[in-house]
Amino acid sequence: MKIGTERKREALRCAVAGLCAIYFAAAFAASAAPAYPPAESSKYTGPGSCSSTSCHGSVKPRGDSRIFQNEYSIWVIKDKHAKAYDALTGPVGERMGRILGLGKSEQAAKCLACHSLDVPADARAKTFELSEGVSCESCHGPASAWLGPHTTRNWTHEQSIAAGMYDTRNLVRRTEKCLSCHLGTQEKSVDHEMIAAGHPDLYFELDSFSSVMPRHWKTPRESAPGVPAENDAWSGVRDWGTGQAVQLRASMERIAWRAKSKNWPEYSELQCFACHHDLTSPEQSWRQERGYAGRRPGDPPWNASRYAVFRELAHQVDDTGASRLDDQVAQIAKSLSQLNPDREAVALAAAGAASLSNQLAARIAAQPYDAAIALRLLQKISSDADEISNEGERAAEQTAMALDSLFIAYSRTEKTASAADVRAAINALFQQLQNPSRYNPADFAAQMRKVNSLLR
Ligand code: HEC
Ligand code: HEC
Ligand code: HEC
Ligand code: HEC
Repeated sequence: MKIGTERKREALRCAVAGLCAIYFAAAFAASAAPAYPPAESSKYTGPGSCSSTSCHGSVKPRGDSRIFQNEYSIWVIKDKHAKAYDALTGPVGERMGRILGLGKSEQAAKCLACHSLDVPADARAKTFELSEGVSCESCHGPASAWLGPHTTRNWTHEQSIAAGMYDTRNLVRRTEKCLSCHLGTQEKSVDHEMIAAGHPDLYFELDSFSSVMPRHWKTPRESAPGVPAENDAWSGVRDWGTGQAVQLRASMERIAWRAKSKNWPEYSELQCFACHHDLTSPEQSWRQERGYAGRRPGDPPWNASRYAVFRELAHQVDDTGASRLDDQVAQIAKSLSQLNPDREAVALAAAGAASLSNQLAARIAAQPYDAAIALRLLQKISSDADEISNEGERAAEQTAMALDSLFIAYSRTEKTASAADVRAAINALFQQLQNPSRYNPADFAAQMRKVNSLLR
Protein backbone atom coordinates (compact mmCIF):
# COMPACT_ATOMS: atom_id res chain seq x y z
CA MET A 1 0.00 0.00 0.00
CA LYS A 2 1.19 3.48 -0.78
CA ILE A 3 1.21 5.54 2.35
CA GLY A 4 3.41 8.33 3.64
CA THR A 5 4.44 10.78 0.96
CA GLU A 6 1.63 9.83 -1.37
CA ARG A 7 -1.16 10.42 1.07
CA LYS A 8 -3.55 13.02 -0.15
CA ARG A 9 -5.45 14.85 2.53
CA GLU A 10 -8.65 16.79 2.23
CA ALA A 11 -8.52 20.31 3.55
CA LEU A 12 -10.06 20.78 6.96
CA ARG A 13 -12.98 23.08 7.05
CA CYS A 14 -14.16 24.26 10.39
CA ALA A 15 -12.99 26.86 12.78
CA VAL A 16 -13.79 26.24 16.45
CA ALA A 17 -11.51 23.56 17.84
CA GLY A 18 -13.24 22.33 20.99
CA LEU A 19 -16.62 21.52 19.45
CA CYS A 20 -15.65 18.32 17.69
CA ALA A 21 -14.62 16.81 20.98
CA ILE A 22 -18.11 17.50 22.22
CA TYR A 23 -19.57 16.03 19.07
CA PHE A 24 -17.49 12.88 19.34
CA ALA A 25 -18.21 12.56 23.04
CA ALA A 26 -21.91 12.74 22.21
CA ALA A 27 -21.51 10.32 19.33
CA PHE A 28 -19.76 7.86 21.58
CA ALA A 29 -22.21 8.23 24.44
CA ALA A 30 -24.98 7.50 21.96
CA SER A 31 -23.24 4.28 20.96
CA ALA A 32 -22.92 3.03 24.51
CA ALA A 33 -26.65 2.30 24.54
CA PRO A 34 -27.55 -0.85 22.59
CA ALA A 35 -29.30 1.26 19.96
CA TYR A 36 -28.65 -1.12 17.08
CA PRO A 37 -31.63 -3.39 16.62
CA PRO A 38 -31.07 -5.90 13.83
CA ALA A 39 -33.18 -4.66 10.96
CA GLU A 40 -34.61 -8.04 10.11
CA SER A 41 -36.70 -7.08 7.14
CA SER A 42 -33.87 -5.03 5.59
CA LYS A 43 -32.43 -6.18 2.31
CA TYR A 44 -29.24 -5.35 0.50
CA THR A 45 -29.99 -3.45 -2.68
CA GLY A 46 -26.50 -3.08 -4.22
CA PRO A 47 -24.54 0.09 -5.04
CA GLY A 48 -26.55 0.78 -8.20
CA SER A 49 -29.38 2.15 -6.04
CA CYS A 50 -27.05 4.91 -4.80
CA SER A 51 -25.46 5.81 -8.14
CA SER A 52 -27.87 8.29 -9.67
CA THR A 53 -26.26 11.68 -10.32
CA SER A 54 -28.78 13.40 -8.09
CA CYS A 55 -27.99 10.99 -5.22
CA HIS A 56 -24.36 9.84 -4.72
CA GLY A 57 -23.27 9.57 -8.34
CA SER A 58 -22.38 13.19 -9.08
CA VAL A 59 -19.10 13.42 -11.00
CA LYS A 60 -17.83 16.41 -9.04
CA PRO A 61 -18.33 17.12 -5.35
CA ARG A 62 -21.29 19.43 -4.84
CA GLY A 63 -20.76 22.66 -2.95
CA ASP A 64 -24.36 23.26 -1.97
CA SER A 65 -24.82 20.04 -0.06
CA ARG A 66 -23.96 18.75 3.41
CA ILE A 67 -22.39 15.73 1.72
CA PHE A 68 -20.31 15.58 -1.48
CA GLN A 69 -22.85 13.52 -3.49
CA ASN A 70 -20.02 12.04 -5.57
CA GLU A 71 -19.49 9.13 -3.15
CA TYR A 72 -20.41 6.54 -5.78
CA SER A 73 -18.04 8.05 -8.34
CA ILE A 74 -15.16 8.05 -5.83
CA TRP A 75 -15.88 4.46 -4.86
CA VAL A 76 -16.21 3.08 -8.36
CA ILE A 77 -13.17 4.91 -9.78
CA LYS A 78 -10.69 5.28 -6.94
CA ASP A 79 -11.61 2.91 -4.14
CA LYS A 80 -9.99 -0.53 -4.14
CA HIS A 81 -13.07 -1.91 -2.37
CA ALA A 82 -14.91 -1.73 -5.70
CA LYS A 83 -12.30 -4.17 -7.10
CA ALA A 84 -12.29 -6.52 -4.12
CA TYR A 85 -14.19 -9.26 -5.96
CA ASP A 86 -11.80 -9.03 -8.94
CA ALA A 87 -8.92 -9.86 -6.60
CA LEU A 88 -10.46 -13.33 -6.28
CA THR A 89 -10.59 -13.94 -10.02
CA GLY A 90 -7.08 -12.58 -10.68
CA PRO A 91 -4.03 -14.90 -10.97
CA VAL A 92 -3.05 -14.72 -7.25
CA GLY A 93 -6.64 -15.22 -6.08
CA GLU A 94 -7.14 -18.19 -8.41
CA ARG A 95 -3.88 -19.80 -7.37
CA MET A 96 -4.79 -19.38 -3.71
CA GLY A 97 -8.04 -21.23 -4.35
CA ARG A 98 -6.05 -24.07 -5.93
CA ILE A 99 -3.43 -24.30 -3.18
CA LEU A 100 -6.06 -24.24 -0.44
CA GLY A 101 -8.25 -26.80 -2.24
CA LEU A 102 -11.19 -24.37 -2.40
CA GLY A 103 -11.77 -24.57 -6.12
CA LYS A 104 -12.69 -21.20 -7.59
CA SER A 105 -12.00 -18.49 -5.01
CA GLU A 106 -14.86 -16.34 -6.27
CA GLN A 107 -17.23 -19.14 -5.31
CA ALA A 108 -15.67 -19.86 -1.92
CA ALA A 109 -17.51 -18.49 1.09
CA LYS A 110 -14.15 -18.27 2.86
CA CYS A 111 -13.04 -15.57 0.41
CA LEU A 112 -16.35 -13.90 -0.43
CA ALA A 113 -16.81 -13.13 3.27
CA CYS A 114 -14.44 -10.15 2.99
CA HIS A 115 -14.19 -9.58 -0.76
CA SER A 116 -17.88 -9.07 -1.42
CA LEU A 117 -21.18 -8.57 0.33
CA ASP A 118 -21.86 -12.25 0.86
CA VAL A 119 -25.22 -12.07 2.61
CA PRO A 120 -27.86 -14.85 2.67
CA ALA A 121 -30.08 -15.17 -0.40
CA ASP A 122 -33.17 -13.94 1.43
CA ALA A 123 -31.38 -10.68 2.32
CA ARG A 124 -30.56 -9.87 -1.30
CA ALA A 125 -32.84 -7.59 -3.26
CA LYS A 126 -33.25 -8.22 -6.99
CA THR A 127 -30.75 -5.48 -7.85
CA PHE A 128 -27.98 -7.13 -5.84
CA GLU A 129 -24.76 -8.48 -7.47
CA LEU A 130 -22.05 -10.39 -5.63
CA SER A 131 -19.39 -9.21 -8.09
CA GLU A 132 -19.72 -5.60 -6.97
CA GLY A 133 -17.14 -6.27 -4.28
CA VAL A 134 -17.06 -4.35 -1.01
CA SER A 135 -19.78 -1.83 -1.72
CA CYS A 136 -21.82 0.84 0.05
CA GLU A 137 -23.87 -1.57 2.15
CA SER A 138 -20.78 -3.55 3.28
CA CYS A 139 -20.03 -0.53 5.46
CA HIS A 140 -23.34 1.33 5.69
CA GLY A 141 -25.67 -1.63 6.30
CA PRO A 142 -28.67 -2.95 4.33
CA ALA A 143 -30.43 -0.05 2.62
CA SER A 144 -33.89 -1.24 1.66
CA ALA A 145 -35.58 0.20 4.76
CA TRP A 146 -33.91 3.63 4.65
CA LEU A 147 -33.09 4.06 0.96
CA GLY A 148 -36.29 5.94 0.13
CA PRO A 149 -36.88 7.86 3.37
CA HIS A 150 -33.26 9.01 3.88
CA THR A 151 -33.59 11.36 0.91
CA THR A 152 -36.59 13.15 2.42
CA ARG A 153 -36.41 16.44 4.25
CA ASN A 154 -35.97 16.35 8.06
CA TRP A 155 -35.10 12.63 8.04
CA THR A 156 -32.38 12.18 10.68
CA HIS A 157 -29.29 10.03 10.97
CA GLU A 158 -30.86 8.39 14.04
CA GLN A 159 -33.89 7.39 12.00
CA SER A 160 -31.61 5.79 9.43
CA ILE A 161 -29.78 3.91 12.18
CA ALA A 162 -33.09 2.64 13.52
CA ALA A 163 -33.93 1.45 9.99
CA GLY A 164 -30.76 -0.64 9.72
CA MET A 165 -28.01 1.79 8.69
CA TYR A 166 -24.67 1.06 10.35
CA ASP A 167 -23.35 3.94 12.49
CA THR A 168 -20.06 4.72 10.73
CA ARG A 169 -20.19 8.23 12.26
CA ASN A 170 -19.21 6.70 15.56
CA LEU A 171 -15.43 6.27 15.44
CA VAL A 172 -15.34 3.14 17.58
CA ARG A 173 -18.07 1.48 15.54
CA ARG A 174 -16.41 2.67 12.32
CA THR A 175 -13.09 1.08 13.25
CA GLU A 176 -14.83 -2.14 14.27
CA LYS A 177 -16.39 -2.26 10.81
CA CYS A 178 -13.04 -1.79 9.02
CA LEU A 179 -11.35 -4.35 11.27
CA SER A 180 -14.02 -6.99 10.66
CA CYS A 181 -12.19 -7.43 7.32
CA HIS A 182 -8.79 -5.79 7.94
CA LEU A 183 -8.01 -7.86 11.04
CA GLY A 184 -10.70 -10.51 10.84
CA THR A 185 -13.18 -12.10 13.22
CA GLN A 186 -13.86 -15.62 14.35
CA GLU A 187 -16.29 -15.99 11.42
CA LYS A 188 -13.92 -14.65 8.75
CA SER A 189 -10.18 -14.47 9.06
CA VAL A 190 -6.84 -14.66 7.31
CA ASP A 191 -4.37 -17.07 8.89
CA HIS A 192 -0.82 -18.16 8.06
CA GLU A 193 -2.16 -20.98 5.91
CA MET A 194 -3.84 -18.41 3.64
CA ILE A 195 -0.79 -16.15 3.78
CA ALA A 196 1.47 -19.03 2.77
CA ALA A 197 -0.90 -19.58 -0.17
CA GLY A 198 -0.45 -15.97 -1.30
CA HIS A 199 -2.74 -13.71 0.75
CA PRO A 200 -1.19 -10.42 1.94
CA ASP A 201 -0.66 -10.16 5.68
CA LEU A 202 -3.32 -7.94 7.25
CA TYR A 203 -2.39 -4.74 9.04
CA PHE A 204 -4.32 -1.53 9.61
CA GLU A 205 -4.18 2.06 10.82
CA LEU A 206 -7.47 3.96 10.65
CA ASP A 207 -6.19 7.41 9.69
CA SER A 208 -3.72 6.28 7.00
CA PHE A 209 -6.09 3.71 5.55
CA SER A 210 -8.97 6.21 5.46
CA SER A 211 -6.80 8.60 3.43
CA VAL A 212 -5.70 5.92 1.02
CA MET A 213 -9.23 4.53 0.64
CA PRO A 214 -9.80 7.52 -0.28
CA ARG A 215 -12.32 9.26 1.96
CA HIS A 216 -15.66 10.10 0.37
CA TRP A 217 -16.87 12.05 3.40
CA LYS A 218 -16.15 15.52 4.70
CA THR A 219 -13.77 15.82 7.63
CA PRO A 220 -14.59 17.08 10.06
CA ARG A 221 -18.28 16.35 9.84
CA GLU A 222 -20.93 18.83 10.77
CA SER A 223 -22.05 18.49 14.39
CA ALA A 224 -25.70 18.36 15.42
CA PRO A 225 -28.45 19.96 13.32
CA GLY A 226 -28.56 23.71 13.95
CA VAL A 227 -25.06 23.80 15.38
CA PRO A 228 -22.47 25.51 13.14
CA ALA A 229 -19.77 23.37 11.56
CA GLU A 230 -17.03 22.84 14.09
CA ASN A 231 -13.32 22.61 13.55
CA ASP A 232 -11.61 19.49 14.56
CA ALA A 233 -8.20 20.19 13.16
CA TRP A 234 -7.18 17.23 15.27
CA SER A 235 -9.46 14.59 13.78
CA GLY A 236 -6.36 12.84 12.39
CA VAL A 237 -5.00 12.40 15.91
CA ARG A 238 -8.33 11.19 17.21
CA ASP A 239 -8.72 8.76 14.27
CA TRP A 240 -5.22 7.42 14.82
CA GLY A 241 -5.66 7.00 18.58
CA THR A 242 -9.16 5.52 18.49
CA GLY A 243 -8.17 3.24 15.63
CA GLN A 244 -5.19 1.98 17.64
CA ALA A 245 -7.21 1.29 20.77
CA VAL A 246 -9.96 -0.56 18.92
CA GLN A 247 -7.36 -2.45 16.91
CA LEU A 248 -5.58 -3.58 20.08
CA ARG A 249 -8.87 -4.77 21.53
CA ALA A 250 -9.77 -6.66 18.34
CA SER A 251 -6.34 -8.28 18.16
CA MET A 252 -6.61 -9.38 21.80
CA GLU A 253 -10.01 -10.90 21.10
CA ARG A 254 -8.48 -12.69 18.13
CA ILE A 255 -5.70 -14.15 20.28
CA ALA A 256 -8.28 -15.25 22.86
CA TRP A 257 -10.26 -17.38 20.39
CA ARG A 258 -7.27 -18.51 18.38
CA ALA A 259 -5.47 -19.78 21.48
CA LYS A 260 -8.35 -22.19 22.01
CA SER A 261 -8.73 -23.31 18.41
CA LYS A 262 -7.19 -26.42 16.87
CA ASN A 263 -4.82 -24.45 14.60
CA TRP A 264 -2.39 -23.36 17.24
CA PRO A 265 0.28 -22.04 17.31
CA GLU A 266 -0.98 -19.56 14.73
CA TYR A 267 2.13 -18.22 13.00
CA SER A 268 0.48 -15.01 11.82
CA GLU A 269 0.31 -13.86 15.48
CA LEU A 270 4.12 -13.99 15.56
CA GLN A 271 6.79 -11.79 14.01
CA CYS A 272 6.85 -12.73 10.33
CA PHE A 273 10.46 -11.81 9.76
CA ALA A 274 11.74 -13.71 12.75
CA CYS A 275 11.20 -16.74 10.53
CA HIS A 276 11.34 -15.16 7.07
CA HIS A 277 14.76 -13.58 6.84
CA ASP A 278 18.03 -14.30 5.12
CA LEU A 279 20.77 -15.97 7.13
CA THR A 280 24.16 -14.27 7.46
CA SER A 281 27.51 -15.22 8.90
CA PRO A 282 27.54 -15.04 12.74
CA GLU A 283 29.72 -11.91 12.63
CA GLN A 284 27.11 -10.08 10.58
CA SER A 285 24.01 -11.21 12.45
CA TRP A 286 22.31 -8.37 14.31
CA ARG A 287 19.94 -10.92 15.82
CA GLN A 288 22.74 -12.79 17.54
CA GLU A 289 24.31 -9.50 18.55
CA ARG A 290 21.00 -8.32 20.03
CA GLY A 291 20.34 -11.60 21.86
CA TYR A 292 16.94 -13.15 22.67
CA ALA A 293 15.76 -11.39 25.81
CA GLY A 294 12.84 -13.12 27.52
CA ARG A 295 12.75 -16.18 25.26
CA ARG A 296 14.78 -19.23 24.37
CA PRO A 297 17.21 -18.38 21.52
CA GLY A 298 15.47 -19.23 18.27
CA ASP A 299 11.86 -19.21 19.49
CA PRO A 300 9.82 -16.79 17.33
CA PRO A 301 8.55 -13.76 19.27
CA TRP A 302 5.00 -12.41 19.39
CA ASN A 303 4.11 -9.60 16.97
CA ALA A 304 3.60 -6.69 19.40
CA SER A 305 3.05 -4.06 16.70
CA ARG A 306 -0.52 -3.31 17.80
CA TYR A 307 0.73 -2.31 21.21
CA ALA A 308 4.31 -1.05 20.93
CA VAL A 309 3.38 2.38 19.57
CA PHE A 310 -0.09 2.76 21.02
CA ARG A 311 1.19 2.36 24.59
CA GLU A 312 2.59 5.91 24.44
CA LEU A 313 -0.90 7.30 23.96
CA ALA A 314 -2.40 4.88 26.48
CA HIS A 315 -0.05 6.23 29.16
CA GLN A 316 -0.93 9.82 28.35
CA VAL A 317 -4.65 9.15 28.60
CA ASP A 318 -4.75 6.91 31.67
CA ASP A 319 -1.45 6.10 33.32
CA THR A 320 -2.84 3.60 35.83
CA GLY A 321 -4.98 1.76 33.30
CA ALA A 322 -2.07 1.69 30.85
CA SER A 323 0.26 0.22 33.49
CA ARG A 324 -2.21 -2.61 34.05
CA LEU A 325 -2.38 -3.08 30.30
CA ASP A 326 1.46 -3.18 30.19
CA ASP A 327 1.40 -6.08 32.66
CA GLN A 328 -1.24 -8.05 30.77
CA VAL A 329 0.47 -7.52 27.43
CA ALA A 330 3.88 -8.47 28.88
CA GLN A 331 2.35 -11.74 30.04
CA ILE A 332 0.89 -12.40 26.58
CA ALA A 333 4.19 -11.53 24.90
CA LYS A 334 6.05 -13.92 27.17
CA SER A 335 3.60 -16.78 26.63
CA LEU A 336 3.33 -16.35 22.87
CA SER A 337 7.12 -16.35 22.56
CA GLN A 338 7.21 -19.92 23.93
CA LEU A 339 6.56 -22.97 21.79
CA ASN A 340 3.95 -24.47 24.10
CA PRO A 341 2.28 -21.80 26.21
CA ASP A 342 -0.61 -22.49 28.57
CA ARG A 343 -3.46 -21.70 26.18
CA GLU A 344 -6.04 -21.04 28.86
CA ALA A 345 -3.72 -18.51 30.50
CA VAL A 346 -3.11 -16.83 27.14
CA ALA A 347 -6.85 -16.56 26.45
CA LEU A 348 -7.49 -15.16 29.92
CA ALA A 349 -4.76 -12.52 29.71
CA ALA A 350 -5.93 -11.56 26.21
CA ALA A 351 -9.51 -11.13 27.41
CA GLY A 352 -8.27 -8.90 30.24
CA ALA A 353 -6.21 -6.78 27.85
CA ALA A 354 -9.19 -6.53 25.47
CA SER A 355 -11.36 -5.13 28.21
CA LEU A 356 -8.71 -2.58 29.27
CA SER A 357 -8.22 -1.43 25.69
CA ASN A 358 -11.96 -1.07 25.31
CA GLN A 359 -12.07 1.36 28.23
CA LEU A 360 -9.18 3.30 26.72
CA ALA A 361 -10.91 3.45 23.33
CA ALA A 362 -13.91 5.20 24.88
CA ARG A 363 -11.73 7.84 26.52
CA ILE A 364 -9.54 8.35 23.49
CA ALA A 365 -12.53 8.84 21.17
CA ALA A 366 -14.12 11.38 23.51
CA GLN A 367 -11.23 13.49 24.77
CA PRO A 368 -10.17 16.79 23.19
CA TYR A 369 -6.90 17.12 21.27
CA ASP A 370 -4.58 20.04 20.62
CA ALA A 371 -1.15 20.89 19.29
CA ALA A 372 0.56 20.17 22.61
CA ILE A 373 -0.84 16.62 22.75
CA ALA A 374 0.11 15.93 19.14
CA LEU A 375 3.66 17.21 19.67
CA ARG A 376 4.09 15.27 22.91
CA LEU A 377 2.99 12.07 21.17
CA LEU A 378 5.35 12.70 18.27
CA GLN A 379 8.21 13.22 20.70
CA LYS A 380 7.33 10.29 22.95
CA ILE A 381 6.96 7.79 20.13
CA SER A 382 10.14 8.87 18.35
CA SER A 383 12.11 8.83 21.61
CA ASP A 384 11.21 5.18 22.15
CA ALA A 385 13.52 4.24 19.27
CA ASP A 386 15.32 1.16 20.63
CA GLU A 387 12.37 -0.44 22.31
CA ILE A 388 9.95 -0.05 19.40
CA SER A 389 12.38 -0.94 16.63
CA ASN A 390 13.34 -4.15 18.44
CA GLU A 391 9.71 -5.25 18.27
CA GLY A 392 10.24 -5.99 14.59
CA GLU A 393 9.26 -4.75 11.16
CA ARG A 394 5.50 -4.61 11.81
CA ALA A 395 6.02 -2.36 14.85
CA ALA A 396 8.31 -0.18 12.74
CA GLU A 397 5.57 0.08 10.13
CA GLN A 398 3.05 1.21 12.78
CA THR A 399 5.60 3.78 13.97
CA ALA A 400 6.00 5.26 10.51
CA MET A 401 2.21 5.45 10.01
CA ALA A 402 1.68 6.96 13.49
CA LEU A 403 4.36 9.65 13.06
CA ASP A 404 2.97 10.38 9.60
CA SER A 405 -0.64 10.81 10.80
CA LEU A 406 0.35 12.84 13.85
CA PHE A 407 2.72 15.08 11.93
CA ILE A 408 0.19 15.77 9.17
CA ALA A 409 -2.29 16.90 11.84
CA TYR A 410 0.35 18.88 13.75
CA SER A 411 1.88 20.70 10.79
CA ARG A 412 -1.53 21.74 9.53
CA THR A 413 -1.89 24.25 12.35
CA GLU A 414 1.66 24.68 13.66
CA LYS A 415 4.14 26.17 11.22
CA THR A 416 7.71 25.34 12.21
CA ALA A 417 10.99 26.02 10.44
CA SER A 418 11.96 22.35 10.51
CA ALA A 419 8.70 21.03 8.97
CA ALA A 420 10.25 20.03 5.64
CA ASP A 421 13.10 18.22 7.40
CA VAL A 422 10.72 16.33 9.68
CA ARG A 423 8.63 15.37 6.66
CA ALA A 424 11.70 14.04 4.84
CA ALA A 425 12.87 12.17 7.94
CA ILE A 426 9.48 10.43 8.30
CA ASN A 427 9.51 9.53 4.60
CA ALA A 428 12.91 7.94 5.16
CA LEU A 429 11.31 5.69 7.80
CA PHE A 430 8.88 4.40 5.16
CA GLN A 431 11.78 3.81 2.77
CA GLN A 432 13.45 1.51 5.27
CA LEU A 433 10.38 -0.73 5.16
CA GLN A 434 10.45 -1.30 1.40
CA ASN A 435 12.17 -4.67 1.79
CA PRO A 436 10.81 -6.12 5.04
CA SER A 437 13.07 -9.20 5.06
CA ARG A 438 16.03 -6.86 5.26
CA TYR A 439 14.58 -4.79 8.09
CA ASN A 440 17.34 -3.68 10.46
CA PRO A 441 16.31 -2.36 13.89
CA ALA A 442 19.54 -0.43 14.48
CA ASP A 443 19.08 1.55 11.26
CA PHE A 444 15.41 2.15 11.99
CA ALA A 445 16.15 3.30 15.54
CA ALA A 446 18.80 5.71 14.23
CA GLN A 447 16.27 7.22 11.84
CA MET A 448 13.67 7.50 14.64
CA ARG A 449 16.25 9.40 16.71
CA LYS A 450 16.76 11.72 13.77
CA VAL A 451 13.03 12.46 13.64
CA ASN A 452 13.11 13.02 17.38
CA SER A 453 16.00 15.48 17.24
CA LEU A 454 14.17 17.54 14.59
CA LEU A 455 11.07 17.78 16.77
CA ARG A 456 12.82 19.63 19.59
C1 HEC B 1 -10.80 -11.41 6.95
C2 HEC B 1 -11.09 -10.89 5.64
C3 HEC B 1 -10.52 -11.54 4.41
C4 HEC B 1 -10.68 -12.83 3.98
C5 HEC B 1 -11.46 -13.96 4.68
C6 HEC B 1 -10.01 -12.93 2.70
N1 HEC B 1 -9.44 -11.74 2.37
FE1 HEC B 1 -8.31 -11.34 0.75
N2 HEC B 1 -7.94 -9.44 1.46
C7 HEC B 1 -8.50 -8.90 2.60
C8 HEC B 1 -8.01 -7.56 2.78
C9 HEC B 1 -8.41 -6.62 3.91
C10 HEC B 1 -7.12 -7.31 1.73
C11 HEC B 1 -6.31 -6.04 1.49
C12 HEC B 1 -5.09 -6.09 2.36
C13 HEC B 1 -4.26 -4.82 2.37
O1 HEC B 1 -3.91 -4.36 1.29
O2 HEC B 1 -3.96 -4.33 3.45
C14 HEC B 1 -7.10 -8.53 0.91
C15 HEC B 1 -6.32 -8.70 -0.23
C16 HEC B 1 -6.36 -9.83 -1.04
C17 HEC B 1 -5.60 -9.99 -2.26
C18 HEC B 1 -4.64 -8.98 -2.84
C19 HEC B 1 -5.43 -8.00 -3.65
C20 HEC B 1 -4.60 -6.97 -4.36
O3 HEC B 1 -5.25 -6.05 -4.92
O4 HEC B 1 -3.38 -7.05 -4.35
C21 HEC B 1 -5.94 -11.20 -2.80
C22 HEC B 1 -5.45 -11.81 -4.10
C23 HEC B 1 -6.89 -11.81 -1.90
N3 HEC B 1 -7.11 -10.96 -0.85
C24 HEC B 1 -7.49 -13.04 -2.11
C25 HEC B 1 -8.26 -13.70 -1.17
C26 HEC B 1 -8.71 -15.08 -1.30
C27 HEC B 1 -8.46 -15.95 -2.53
C28 HEC B 1 -9.39 -15.38 -0.16
C29 HEC B 1 -10.00 -16.71 0.23
C30 HEC B 1 -9.09 -17.82 0.26
C31 HEC B 1 -9.38 -14.19 0.69
N4 HEC B 1 -8.70 -13.21 0.04
C32 HEC B 1 -9.99 -14.10 1.93
C33 HEC B 1 -9.38 -9.52 3.45
C34 HEC B 1 -9.73 -10.86 3.39
C1 HEC C 1 -15.22 0.56 3.19
C2 HEC C 1 -16.35 1.18 3.85
C3 HEC C 1 -17.27 2.09 3.05
C4 HEC C 1 -17.79 1.87 1.80
C5 HEC C 1 -17.57 0.71 0.86
C6 HEC C 1 -18.64 3.01 1.52
N1 HEC C 1 -18.61 3.88 2.58
FE1 HEC C 1 -19.61 5.65 2.71
N2 HEC C 1 -18.65 6.08 4.45
C7 HEC C 1 -17.81 5.23 5.12
C8 HEC C 1 -17.29 5.90 6.29
C9 HEC C 1 -16.32 5.32 7.29
C10 HEC C 1 -17.86 7.20 6.31
C11 HEC C 1 -17.59 8.33 7.30
C12 HEC C 1 -18.40 8.28 8.50
C13 HEC C 1 -19.73 8.88 8.31
O1 HEC C 1 -19.81 10.07 8.04
O2 HEC C 1 -20.71 8.14 8.43
C14 HEC C 1 -18.73 7.27 5.14
C15 HEC C 1 -19.51 8.37 4.81
C16 HEC C 1 -20.42 8.41 3.77
C17 HEC C 1 -21.31 9.50 3.50
C18 HEC C 1 -21.39 10.80 4.29
C19 HEC C 1 -22.36 10.63 5.43
C20 HEC C 1 -22.55 11.90 6.20
O3 HEC C 1 -23.55 11.96 6.93
O4 HEC C 1 -21.71 12.81 6.11
C21 HEC C 1 -22.07 9.14 2.42
C22 HEC C 1 -23.17 9.97 1.77
C23 HEC C 1 -21.63 7.83 2.00
N3 HEC C 1 -20.63 7.40 2.85
C24 HEC C 1 -22.14 7.13 0.93
C25 HEC C 1 -21.58 5.97 0.41
C26 HEC C 1 -21.98 5.36 -0.85
C27 HEC C 1 -23.07 5.88 -1.76
C28 HEC C 1 -21.18 4.27 -1.03
C29 HEC C 1 -21.15 3.29 -2.20
C30 HEC C 1 -20.99 3.89 -3.51
C31 HEC C 1 -20.31 4.18 0.14
N4 HEC C 1 -20.58 5.23 0.98
C32 HEC C 1 -19.37 3.18 0.35
C33 HEC C 1 -17.47 3.96 4.75
C34 HEC C 1 -17.78 3.36 3.54
C1 HEC D 1 -16.33 -6.16 3.93
C2 HEC D 1 -14.88 -6.13 4.15
C3 HEC D 1 -14.18 -4.80 4.27
C4 HEC D 1 -14.51 -3.72 5.06
C5 HEC D 1 -15.71 -3.57 5.99
C6 HEC D 1 -13.47 -2.75 4.85
N1 HEC D 1 -12.54 -3.21 3.96
FE1 HEC D 1 -10.94 -2.21 3.25
N2 HEC D 1 -10.53 -3.75 1.96
C7 HEC D 1 -11.21 -4.95 1.93
C8 HEC D 1 -10.64 -5.78 0.89
C9 HEC D 1 -11.09 -7.19 0.53
C10 HEC D 1 -9.60 -5.04 0.30
C11 HEC D 1 -8.68 -5.48 -0.85
C12 HEC D 1 -9.24 -5.00 -2.15
C13 HEC D 1 -8.29 -5.27 -3.31
O1 HEC D 1 -7.11 -4.93 -3.23
O2 HEC D 1 -8.75 -5.82 -4.31
C14 HEC D 1 -9.56 -3.76 1.00
C15 HEC D 1 -8.67 -2.74 0.70
C16 HEC D 1 -8.58 -1.57 1.42
C17 HEC D 1 -7.60 -0.55 1.16
C18 HEC D 1 -6.55 -0.57 0.07
C19 HEC D 1 -5.30 -1.21 0.61
C20 HEC D 1 -4.21 -1.24 -0.44
O3 HEC D 1 -3.42 -2.20 -0.38
O4 HEC D 1 -4.13 -0.36 -1.26
C21 HEC D 1 -7.78 0.45 2.09
C22 HEC D 1 -6.98 1.72 2.23
C23 HEC D 1 -8.91 0.05 2.93
N3 HEC D 1 -9.36 -1.18 2.48
C24 HEC D 1 -9.42 0.80 3.98
C25 HEC D 1 -10.58 0.46 4.68
C26 HEC D 1 -11.19 1.30 5.70
C27 HEC D 1 -10.65 2.64 6.17
C28 HEC D 1 -12.31 0.65 6.11
C29 HEC D 1 -13.33 1.11 7.13
C30 HEC D 1 -13.89 2.43 6.93
C31 HEC D 1 -12.41 -0.58 5.37
N4 HEC D 1 -11.33 -0.68 4.52
C32 HEC D 1 -13.44 -1.51 5.49
C33 HEC D 1 -12.27 -5.31 2.72
C34 HEC D 1 -12.94 -4.47 3.58
C1 HEC E 1 7.30 -19.70 13.16
C2 HEC E 1 7.85 -19.34 11.88
C3 HEC E 1 6.99 -18.53 10.95
C4 HEC E 1 6.37 -17.34 11.20
C5 HEC E 1 6.34 -16.55 12.48
C6 HEC E 1 5.74 -16.94 9.97
N1 HEC E 1 5.99 -17.87 8.99
FE1 HEC E 1 5.47 -17.75 7.05
N2 HEC E 1 6.18 -19.61 6.70
C7 HEC E 1 6.82 -20.40 7.63
C8 HEC E 1 7.10 -21.69 7.04
C9 HEC E 1 7.78 -22.85 7.73
C10 HEC E 1 6.61 -21.64 5.71
C11 HEC E 1 6.66 -22.74 4.65
C12 HEC E 1 7.91 -22.52 3.84
C13 HEC E 1 8.12 -23.57 2.78
O1 HEC E 1 7.28 -24.44 2.60
O2 HEC E 1 9.14 -23.47 2.11
C14 HEC E 1 6.05 -20.32 5.54
C15 HEC E 1 5.49 -19.84 4.36
C16 HEC E 1 5.19 -18.52 4.12
C17 HEC E 1 4.92 -17.96 2.83
C18 HEC E 1 4.94 -18.70 1.51
C19 HEC E 1 6.33 -18.99 1.10
C20 HEC E 1 6.93 -17.93 0.25
O3 HEC E 1 8.18 -17.79 0.30
O4 HEC E 1 6.23 -17.21 -0.47
C21 HEC E 1 4.65 -16.63 3.02
C22 HEC E 1 4.32 -15.59 1.96
C23 HEC E 1 4.73 -16.38 4.44
N3 HEC E 1 5.05 -17.55 5.08
C24 HEC E 1 4.50 -15.15 5.03
C25 HEC E 1 4.46 -14.94 6.41
C26 HEC E 1 3.98 -13.73 7.04
C27 HEC E 1 3.50 -12.49 6.30
C28 HEC E 1 4.08 -13.93 8.39
C29 HEC E 1 3.65 -12.99 9.52
C30 HEC E 1 2.27 -12.58 9.50
C31 HEC E 1 4.66 -15.23 8.59
N4 HEC E 1 4.85 -15.83 7.36
C32 HEC E 1 5.00 -15.78 9.82
C33 HEC E 1 7.15 -20.02 8.90
C34 HEC E 1 6.73 -18.86 9.56
